[in-house]
Amino acid sequence: LATAATALALSVTATAGFAACDDGEMVIKFSHVTNTDKHPKGIAAQLFADRVNEEMDGKVCVEVYPNSTLYNDDQVLEAMLQGDVQMAAPSLSKFETFTKIYRIFDLPFMFKNMDAVEEFQNSDAGEAMKQVMVRRGLLGLEFWHNGLKQISANKPLINPEDAAGLKFRVQPSDVLVAQMEALNASPQPMAFSEVYGALQTGVVDGQQNTWSNIYGQKFFEVQDGVTETNHGLLDYMVVTSVDWWEGLDADIRDQLATILEEVTVERNAAIGQVDADNRQAVLDAGGVIRELTEEQRQAWVDMMKPVWAQFEADVGAENIALAQEINA
Ligand code: LMR
Repeated sequence: LATAATALALSVTATAGFAACDDGEMVIKFSHVTNTDKHPKGIAAQLFADRVNEEMDGKVCVEVYPNSTLYNDDQVLEAMLQGDVQMAAPSLSKFETFTKIYRIFDLPFMFKNMDAVEEFQNSDAGEAMKQVMVRRGLLGLEFWHNGLKQISANKPLINPEDAAGLKFRVQPSDVLVAQMEALNASPQPMAFSEVYGALQTGVVDGQQNTWSNIYGQKFFEVQDGVTETNHGLLDYMVVTSVDWWEGLDADIRDQLATILEEVTVERNAAIGQVDADNRQAVLDAGGVIRELTEEQRQAWVDMMKPVWAQFEADVGAENIALAQEINA
């Protein structure tokens, strides 16, 4: 067992690519599920680690574990409450068992673009959403952007009717399940790390995700093409455990919070470019992208938007109103 554990530790270290922490440094494990190269979360997590490891050298050391090498998103929050990992940045769809208010971010066509998302998250209502899981032991530190989602399948999707009867992988979110049901499709909740294989073997027919995930996980290789719907949001909450965070020395906590905030501002401002680069990378790698006419896109809006009513009580009518005011 000891040998196996050592081998695992060595291989994790090799894939994670971090410098060994020094004796006496407090180690912060940051676990996430995406790739690192070109990916908004991969880049932001590494920048945070690099800055902490330089500016807080000798005191604090961040180890980033990407690509689900440490935990899947369905395990990481429980591990955090156990004290086995200190930071993570799951998508806002992954907090279903802790809060229902983040469902606002999954509602289809809620935000017209990433500027609107940014403004909503920076509003008082958005700020307050970082605190909603505190009584359950989790503290939201910062929202990180990924981007708007596109949809793909093993056949062309132009009209929403084209999705009927197909199986789509979704993140474990009731909103995303309802959204697929509104298309008369069959939603299949599944861990991110399993999606490529499921698409390849036909366990599911399609998926929805952002350009960086479609490129980073190579979903386009095992799909007929990707339809540019921009129909929903995939963003993240950088999260920690209340107990661990409150237990830090105040000066350490303040410095970590400042670095994290600066990284957030810098990387969230770069999201448009990162998203465009990943879209282009799909094309450069031979992927097919289907653009919709205004009319075609409106047909997707008409099919999906009715799910808002089902979740209004969870997310608050006032929050929907605020998002729409920002869009206007
Ligand atoms: C997904 O499961 O599709 C995403 O939440 C993965 C991620 O972290 O971007």
